[in-house]
Amino acid sequence: MDSIKFENRNVGGTVSKDAINALQSKAAEAVEKLEQGTGAGNDFLGWLHLPTSLDEALIADIEKTAALLRADCEYVVAIGIGGSYLGAKAVIEALSDSFAALKPANGPRVLFAGQNIGEDYMSELINLLDGKKFGIIVISKSGTTTEPAIAFRLLKEMLEKQEGKAFASKHIVAVTDKARGALRSLADTEGYTSYVIEDNVGGRFSVLTPVGLLPIAVAGFDIRALIDGARAMELATVSPDDNIAVEYAKTRNALYAAGKKIEILVNYNPKLHFLAEWWKQLYGESEGKDHKGIFPASVDNSTDLHSMGQWIQDGERTIFETVISVARQQHEVKIPADADNLDGLNYIAGKRIDQVNKMAELGTVIAHIDGGVPNIHITLPELSEYYLGEIIYFFEKACGISGYILDVNPFNQPGVEAYKKNMFALLEKPGYEEETKAIQAKL
Ligand code: PA5
Repeated sequence: MDSIKFENRNVGGTVSKDAINALQSKAAEAVEKLEQGTGAGNDFLGWLHLPTSLDEALIADIEKTAALLRADCEYVVAIGIGGSYLGAKAVIEALSDSFAALKPANGPRVLFAGQNIGEDYMSELINLLDGKKFGIIVISKSGTTTEPAIAFRLLKEMLEKQEGKAFASKHIVAVTDKARGALRSLADTEGYTSYVIEDNVGGRFSVLTPVGLLPIAVAGFDIRALIDGARAMELATVSPDDNIAVEYAKTRNALYAAGKKIEILVNYNPKLHFLAEWWKQLYGESEGKDHKGIFPASVDNSTDLHSMGQWIQDGERTIFETVISVARQQHEVKIPADADNLDGLNYIAGKRIDQVNKMAELGTVIAHIDGGVPNIHITLPELSEYYLGEIIYFFEKACGISGYILDVNPFNQPGVEAYKKNMFALLEKPGYEEETKAIQAKL
C-alpha cells in the first residue's frame, strides 16, 4: 500500500538540516513521554493507540446504527462543536461529491448543527427539516456545551412533535461521557442508543472514536478503511527514528524558533477546506498557550491566490507553509482545443485540469520559496478513507510531539473557558451571580 509522503527540503533558506536535527533528542524525548505516559496531560493519551486497539464489536455496532439511520432518514443532523464536529466534517467533505447537495441522494444527507449560535442558520435548518424524516447524532464529551445543547433542545422537540416520541428515541443517538454531564442523563432517561467518549480522549483527538466514526459511516463512507490508514500510520510512527511525524514536529519548531510564527496549511483541492479547519483546531488548541505557539492558518488555492496570495508573497516574513498535495484525482477532465482560440488557451488544450492545477501549485511553491516563505510538503496519494486515516493520525501524533518540544501541555485548553465564563455571566446563568455583577460593572 502506498502512503502519505512528507518532505521538508524547501525550508533550507531559513533553517538548516543541522538546526532541524538539533531538535532530534527533544523529539525523541517527546515520543518517549507519549509512549510512557510521563508528559504533561498524560491522562489524555487515549488517542495514541486508538487505531490499533479499536474493538471490532464497537465498529460493527457503529455500522449497525449507521445502517438504521441511513435506512430510515432523509437527513441526519450531527450536533456538536470543536472536536465534536470538525473531524467528521473534514472527512465527509473530503470524500463527498462537491455537488452532492444538488443531486439525488443515495442515503441520508448529513447536516451539522450546534457548531455555531447563528439564529438564521438554526431557523433555516428547522425550515428544511419541516415535514422530513430526520435523525440526530448529538455529540458532546462534557455533555454541557451550550452551542450543541441549544441546537439539540430545538431539534429534539421538533423531531418528537413531527414523528412521535418512539421514532425520536430510536433515531436520536448520543455520543458523550460514560457517566457525567447533562447529555448522559438525558440519553439514559430517554433510552437513546449511546456511545461513550472515553475520559482519556480529548475532543480534538476524538475523530477515530464514535464522535467521528458514526457521522462518517452515516454519510456512507468506509470507516474500516479510515481506521486501517490510521493504524498504518500509528505503526509507522512508534520509533523516534525514520518517523515523518517527528520530522514534521522538528521542522515546524525549528522554523518557529527562527521567527516563523505562522504556519499556513495550503491545499489545492477545495475538498480539503475542512481538513484544514480540523487541523487548525488541533494545533491551535494544543499549542497556543503560555503565550507561545505557532498560529495555524490556512488557504484554499488557487482560490486564495487571488486574495491572500499577495500577502503570502510579499507581506511580513513571519510565515511558513505546509502544502497538502493530492497526487491522483478521482476524475479526468481535459481542456478542449478550440479552432478560433479566441481565449488563447490552445497552449494547454489536451491537458488535464489537474496538470494545470499542479503547475499552479509548483509555480506558487517556487515563487513563495523565492519570496522567503519556507515550504513543507505533504503528498496524499489520493482522497480516500485510507489516506485520510493516515493523515489524521499523522497530524495527531506530530501535534503531541510538537507540543512537548514547545514545552506546553498539548492536551488541555484552559483558554477556551474565558469566553464561556463571560457569556454565562452576561446571560445571568444561575451560579454566576458574582461574575454577572463584575462584568456588568465593565459595560
Ligand atoms: O478539543 C476540545 O476538547 C474542544 O474543542 C471540544 O471538542 C469542544 O469544546 C466541544 O466540547 P464537548 O464535546 O464537551 O461539547
